[in-house]
Amino acid sequence: MKIRNLKVEDFFLLNELDWAPLPTERDSIYLLMALEQAPCSFVARDDDGAFLGVLLASRGAAGYSIYLNHLLVRESARGLGLGGKLLAALEDYARPAGVKRIWLLCESETVDYYQSKGYRETYEFLSPALEQYLNDTKQVRTLAKCLE
Ligand SMILES: CC(C)(COP(=O)(O)OP(=O)(O)OC[C@H]1O[C@@H](n2cnc3c(N)ncnc32)[C@H](O)[C@@H]1OP(=O)(O)O)[C@@H](O)C(=O)NCCC(=O)NCCS
Repeated sequence: MKIRNLKVEDFFLLNELDWAPLPTERDSIYLLMALEQAPCSFVARDDDGAFLGVLLASRGAAGYSIYLNHLLVRESARGLGLGGKLLAALEDYARPAGVKRIWLLCESETVDYYQSKGYRETYEFLSPALEQYLNDTKQVRTLAKCLE
């Protein structure tokens, strides 16, 4: 199994995946990720080159935080530590680059997973109105991992 940074040609891979939670503007999002966020986005493949998993993340303009857009491991490859390895690859990039925080939005069912990887629910960098909107209207939670 090999993990490498996202490449522009992975656009076609991303486009084929079933990303149910993502909005419809896929082309612009995937192009943006493949062109601008390759250093902090990763693809895992098996030795034959078959897709195993992907982590898409975006580094903020100020540089000190990364938003984890999506983490997906192919169903047949789950439970083998691959999700953890993709998250570790992101941290290996982030720490020496001076990134202080990785944060994400997720549904309640995934909170335990991220907590097991060191993420904690927090809204300290959002307003109370946003916290209420995310929790109550959108039914999503905000988690973050501090890298300091
Ligand atoms: C969540 C996901 C990325 C985990 O990938 P993975 O490679 O199986 O994860 P790891 O091997 O690193 O960790 C597996 C462990 O996490 C646990 N786990 C997996 N999904 C979980 C969840 N939703 N909640 C709590 N624990 C979870 C497994 O039970 C396993 O526990 P164990 O180590 O005690 O056996 C994968 O299940 C997936 O792609 N799910 C669909 C997409 C998704 O929900 N993405 C995250 C939101 S963006």
